[in-house]
Amino acid sequence: MRTPWIVGVSGASGTPYAAAVLRALITAGEPVDLVVSRAARLTILDETSLSFRDAHWEQDLTSWIGLAPNDIRYWPAGDLAAGPSSGSYPARGMIVVPASTAACAGIALGLSKDLLQRAAEVNLKERRPVVVVPRETPVTRSHLLHLVELIDSGAVVLPASPGFYGIGAAASSQQLIDFVAGKILDTVGVKHDLLTRWTGQLST
Ligand SMILES: Cc1cc2nc3c(=O)[nH]c(=O)nc-3n(C[C@H](O)[C@H](O)[C@H](O)COP(=O)(O)O)c2cc1C
Repeated sequence: MRTPWIVGVSGASGTPYAAAVLRALITAGEPVDLVVSRAARLTILDETSLSFRDAHWEQDLTSWIGLAPNDIRYWPAGDLAAGPSSGSYPARGMIVVPASTAACAGIALGLSKDLLQRAAEVNLKERRPVVVVPRETPVTRSHLLHLVELIDSGAVVLPASPGFYGIGAAASSQQLIDFVAGKILDTVGVKHDLLTRWTGQLST
């Protein structure tokens, strides 16, 4: 039976993190079910100048991530009858990357306003791994309380907060993106070579 990771891309800045995670999952041979929120189309457009259209998702995804999709099933965000909206649909868990404050609130409160929020809620209730990657700064008290609620529900909250160790202050933006993507993949136990691991030795 095909048991995918569900990847939800919401409308926070940081779509390169989503692209890096998708490339790494495809490279690792992991099946993926993909949901891209309506707002995420704006951030993809803003950050890459590319459109992302339901009707042309395969072509648009290839242009966006620079890799042909392999074993990816795409579900429109408005399709609340889609497979991932039910707990009986097989899934290994879900990664929400990047996660907008709106998506964090909606998932924490169980609003299920679209398929991304519903699928995340379903994976939490089924006690599967759920990784939420918030991107906002500074934050309000309510942003933080929603993240606490997500942790209490079993999610891993993994802020898009790259470390500079091992790569240094001259790190490229791709190295910083890969650091966050690598931490996400570590969390869900998928092999990758995206980040430089701490060896116990300061680089001098
Ligand atoms: C270009 C752009 C950048 C945005 N960046 C962020 C962001 O970094 N973090 C965030 O929480 N919301 C950000 N937003 C606002 C969200 O897109 C907005 O709250 C939206 O309702 C989120 O919907 P979604 O969770 O369904 O994707 C941004 C919006 C735009 C258009």
